Amino acid sequence: MPVRIGVIGIGFMGSAHFNIHRSNPAAKVVAICDIDPKKLSGDWSSIAGNVAVGGGKVDLSGVKTYDCADELIADPEIDAVDITLPTYLHAEFAIKALQAGKHVLCEKPMARTSAEARKMLDAAKKAKRKLFIGQCIRFWPGWFEAREIIRTKKYGKVISANFRRFSQLPTWGWQNWLQDNAKSGLCALDMHIHDTDYVLYTFGAPKAVTAHYAGFKKGRLDHILVAYDYGQGMLVTSEGAWEYKPSFGFTMGFVIHMEKATLTWQIETGKLMLHGASGKAEVLPTVMEDGYNRELKHYVDCIANNKQSEICPPASAIATVSLVEAEAKSALSGRKVAFKLKKG
Ligand SMILES: NC(=O)c1ccc[n+]([C@@H]2O[C@H](COP(=O)([O-])OP(=O)(O)OC[C@H]3O[C@@H](n4cnc5c(N)ncnc54)[C@H](O)[C@@H]3O)[C@@H](O)[C@H]2O)c1
Repeated sequence: MPVRIGVIGIGFMGSAHFNIHRSNPAAKVVAICDIDPKKLSGDWSSIAGNVAVGGGKVDLSGVKTYDCADELIADPEIDAVDITLPTYLHAEFAIKALQAGKHVLCEKPMARTSAEARKMLDAAKKAKRKLFIGQCIRFWPGWFEAREIIRTKKYGKVISANFRRFSQLPTWGWQNWLQDNAKSGLCALDMHIHDTDYVLYTFGAPKAVTAHYAGFKKGRLDHILVAYDYGQGMLVTSEGAWEYKPSFGFTMGFVIHMEKATLTWQIETGKLMLHGASGKAEVLPTVMEDGYNRELKHYVDCIANNKQSEICPPASAIATVSLVEAEAKSALSGRKVAFKLKKG
């Protein structure tokens, strides 16, 4: 029997999750919830984001529609609630869903603060339900394989790594919530977090971070530049910015330099390139399915087979929010900030 899912928040990510679950025979979207009646009527033409999304007119026959999240959460025909709401609402509705006995899939960032994220994990443990966070970059073609190459030291140790993610200013969110620091955490927590997550997932916890920022106003993290302290011998940096003009669009990529080769990936080509000693770069094979699909199918499979995710345990997503908080603290204070993973 497929995992019966209710999706709350039909925006940029909610529409993507809906389409992915619908294409997955192991899942069945039984209900959606949004406070916008147009979304509930199947008119998704207003949905926008920084990568292509399937909008337009959607056939919702056979799907229950709720305008109140509490009602969807109370629906006894739902096994798992997929939360694609603005970030500041994640903790409230994830905890309610867990307390109602549902498994929860929740978009990244896990919550607006690491303290809220910890409450989500406590609620999951208490309710004995599973909690999965959408740290999609761990599943992304090219990024997934790069981590394996690093882990196996096939080309020696990493000497330096740089990750970058730049976007036009995102003004497409519901009621412009992305531009409200209290709701989104701005570029640092909303967008740059993908690179923070990859750094933590791939290299482990740094001893400290040093960050700088630029913003439309003093204190706004619209652009953040971070150096991670892994001690002498490995220079890891990341940069995220979303203050650019509308025609800029979106780009992301990395350069990872090891003793015997350099790896690069950029979204424009989607190719993982190995630059060795020969002078000719080689295209490395990568998984064909996109990161969102792989991630959501993995989580549905975990629910169907009563497994935790070894790729993204929820505690690791809390750690990622904590590391972004350390980066923000460093950027805003102008000081190096020590980082330590909390246990549990
Ligand atoms: N993994 C990724 O690559 C990625 C990309 C974009 C966004 N996200 C994350 O996904 C989440 C959602 O972002 P988005 O860009 O889809 O937002 P969005 O603004 O496009 O959509 C939010 C939707 O929630 C609805 N909504 C608001 N309050 C509600 C409530 N109380 N009950 C029901 N519906 C409500 C709005 O009407 C809107 O349709 C955020 O946490 C964001 O950080 C992740």
